[in-house]
Amino acid sequence: MFPPAVYSERRKKLRAELSTGIVLFLGNTDMAFNYPANTYSFRQDSNFSYFFGLDHPDLAGMLDLDHGKDIIFGNDLDISDIIWMGKQPSIAEQAAKAGISVTFPLIELLEYIGMAVAKGRKIHFAPTYRAETRVQLAGLLGVDHQKVHEQVSPELIRAIVKLRMLKDELEVKEIEKMIDVAYVMHTTAMKMAKPGVVEQQIAGTIEGISLANAGPVSFPVILTVNGQTLHNHYHGNVLSEGRMMVIDAGCENDLHYASDITRTVPVGGKFSQRQKEIYEIVLKANMEATKAVKPGIPFKDIHILAATEIAKGLTALGIMKGDPNEAVAKGAHTLFFPHGLGHPLGLDVHDLEGMGENFVGYDNEVQRSKEFGLAYLRFGRKLQTGFVMTIEPGIYFIPELIEIWKNENRNAEFINYDKVMTYLDFGGIRIEDDVLVTADGVRVLGRPIPKTVAEIEELMA
Ligand code: GLY
Ligand code: MN
Ligand code: MN
Repeated sequence: MFPPAVYSERRKKLRAELSTGIVLFLGNTDMAFNYPANTYSFRQDSNFSYFFGLDHPDLAGMLDLDHGKDIIFGNDLDISDIIWMGKQPSIAEQAAKAGISVTFPLIELLEYIGMAVAKGRKIHFAPTYRAETRVQLAGLLGVDHQKVHEQVSPELIRAIVKLRMLKDELEVKEIEKMIDVAYVMHTTAMKMAKPGVVEQQIAGTIEGISLANAGPVSFPVILTVNGQTLHNHYHGNVLSEGRMMVIDAGCENDLHYASDITRTVPVGGKFSQRQKEIYEIVLKANMEATKAVKPGIPFKDIHILAATEIAKGLTALGIMKGDPNEAVAKGAHTLFFPHGLGHPLGLDVHDLEGMGENFVGYDNEVQRSKEFGLAYLRFGRKLQTGFVMTIEPGIYFIPELIEIWKNENRNAEFINYDKVMTYLDFGGIRIEDDVLVTADGVRVLGRPIPKTVAEIEELMA
C-alpha cells in the first residue's frame, strides 16, 4: 500500500467533488471457482483500492459527507478463521493503513444505510460489475437487484473519473514497474516463437513470468498466430514459418496497477518482405500517433492521424487507392483498422471502463461516433497532463469482414479488392505502448521493448 496520507488525500479530493449524502464503496468478496470454498484469486475492486488501498475481501468503505467521517466496515477474524488463514491484521489496524480511525462490524452497515435511506439521504455508489455486489447493494438499499443500477450516482462517476484519470508520480512508477515485467514477458515470448512450438507453451510461460515477478496478468493473455481476431484467447495453434505472432499481454501488481503491451513478431525471427511492408506501416502509425500526444489535443484526432498513416501506407502498397485523407473520412481504412487507437490505463487495464466508457472517454465537446470502427474508439476527448493512455494501432486482414465488404463493393473507390484477396492468409499486426501525457508532450513508459524490425530480428536471432 501507499502511505495512509495518499488515501486520505484521495478521499479529501473526492469529498470536494460531491455535496451531500453517503458515498459507499463495497469492496469485493471472494468468488467461487467451482464450489464456494474453492475460489478464484481475490481481486479487490479498483475504486475501493484507489480510495482505501486495503486488499482483503468483505470490506466496505464509506464517506459520510454530511458528518465528515470516513468509515471502514469489516469483521475481525475469529479463531476458526485464524486456524486456516493464519493471524491477520484487525480491521482497526487495516483501516489505520488507509488513514481511517472509525471502524464498525460489517453487520452495522445494514443499519447505517437503512437509517440513511429512511431519512431520504442520498447514497452515492458506482456501477457494479459483479452480481454479488449488486445483490449486496439491493439488500442494503431495500430494492430489487435488477433495479440497483437505476440508483447509480452520475455525480460520483464523474468525480471518480476526474480523480483516477490523473495519475501522480507514485502511480506512474507502479505502472512502469509493470511494464518492466512485461518487457520480460514479451522478450521471452519473442525468443520462444519458433516453428513447431504450440501457442499455449508461450502463453503459459509468460503468464508464469507475470505471477513470479508481479501478480496476475492484467487481462487474459492474447497470444496467437491469428492476430486478425482482435481479442483471440485461443492458444492451441502450432507456430509455423510464414505466420506472424501477436503477443498482447500485461500484468498487475499487488496495488493493481497494470501494464498493457502488444508486439507482433514473425515466427522464426525473420520478417518476409510482405510482413515487413505491413509492419512498417503499423510502426509508423504507432510512432506518429505517439509523437502527437500532448495536453489539449483530442485523442480522436490522434486516432484519425494513425488511421491516415495506415491508409497512406496501404495506398503505397496498392492495397488501398485514391486519396488517403478522403478514404479515412469515408471510413475505408476500418476494413483493416476496425478498432480504436487506445484507452486509459491504470488500476484497470481499460482504466475506469466499468464506470461507463462515455463518462470516461467522451464529453460535451467530443461525442462518440456511431460509425463502424470509430464507434469502437473507447476514448475521444482532449488529453490532459497526467493521463496514461495506450497507443495501439493495427492492421488486420479479417477474411470474414473482407468477404462482406467485397460482396457489397463497399468503399470500392478506396480499396483494391483484388490485391486485398492475396492477403487473406496474412493474419494481423498490432503494436501497443503505454504513454504518459506530460506538460510538454509525451513520455513512453517503461523499459523499451524491441519494436523496430531490426530490434526484433536481433532479439530473436
Ligand atoms: N489488451 C487489450 C487491449 O489492448 O485493449
Ligand atoms: Mn493490449
Ligand atoms: Mn490496450
